[in-house]
Amino acid sequence: MRALVVGASGHLGGEVARLAAAAGADVAGTSTTGASGWSRLDITDREAVRALVSRVRPAVVVNAAYRADSWAICADGAAHVALAATEAGARLVHVSSDALHGGRPEPYGDDAVPTPIYPYGVAKAAAETAVAAIDPAAVLVRTSLIVGDERSKQVRFALDLVTGRTRGALFSDMVRCPIDATDLAAALLELAASGYRGLINVAGPQATSRAELGRLVAKRYGLDPAAVPVCTIAESDLTAGAAEVRLDSTRATGLLKTPLRGVAEVLGVA
Ligand SMILES: NC(=O)c1ccc[n+]([C@@H]2O[C@H](COP(=O)([O-])OP(=O)(O)OC[C@H]3O[C@@H](n4cnc5c(N)ncnc54)[C@H](OP(=O)(O)O)[C@@H]3O)[C@@H](O)[C@H]2O)c1
Repeated sequence: MRALVVGASGHLGGEVARLAAAAGADVAGTSTTGASGWSRLDITDREAVRALVSRVRPAVVVNAAYRADSWAICADGAAHVALAATEAGARLVHVSSDALHGGRPEPYGDDAVPTPIYPYGVAKAAAETAVAAIDPAAVLVRTSLIVGDERSKQVRFALDLVTGRTRGALFSDMVRCPIDATDLAAALLELAASGYRGLINVAGPQATSRAELGRLVAKRYGLDPAAVPVCTIAESDLTAGAAEVRLDSTRATGLLKTPLRGVAEVLGVA
């Protein structure tokens, strides 16, 4: 089976590529620079995406490419990948985000309509609409903060704050459902091999504030959890995003063999 991982140089894409290769797939991947032997690709270039996909002829395409500040990459780029995958007859797994939810205390179901409140979430919502319209058989996976080792930007940020390498604070009232990169990558590959169509939440079972996540990371690395700088969203002058976004992943846990572990277990501090 040939798999194309768009964004293979990234954290999640790298895990998808590694697990797919370990399972015996013939893996092609992309990065924007051609680093690590991956093919160079900019998904904002529609014809370049088409040319690469028709050359690689993958059975499966996983799109894990993004840049949070870029509509062209998150929205237009996702549509270009969906178009090329459909033309090639490939199975498409598109990675979406909990960022498209506006926040509320109750968990969001798999098919909850997007209510984005900041540009990244708007772009991820637009991507879903485009991808589902182009390829109704695609799987659209909504996920949350991706954690694991220091390749995780969430883990790195927490470590940088605790060690004073960067200034800022983690919100005590911003709640998400962090997921391990390897668990998520395995789930994406399982979904690729399934007949599942449409939206599905794939996130961790342990809702955690960003501040608590920072404390767990500190603990994991033998640092003082009390050294994590903390504030509320209201105390910050940043454009923060939604407060409470919990993804209900009951459907995914019922469907998949891959266990979706809670963040304390993932970080080894359960
Ligand atoms: N990180 C999180 O906590 C989080 C939370 C929820 C959802 N997600 C979703 O999960 C997915 C993967 O996130 P991640 O943290 O693993 O990402 P990441 O580590 O930041 O990797 C992003 C990937 O996208 C590639 N990329 C950037 N611009 C591109 C362009 N113009 N054309 C083609 N590729 C481009 C990067 O290539 P280069 O290495 O060459 O720059 C890299 O391979 C994304 O869809 C994101 O929306 C992430």
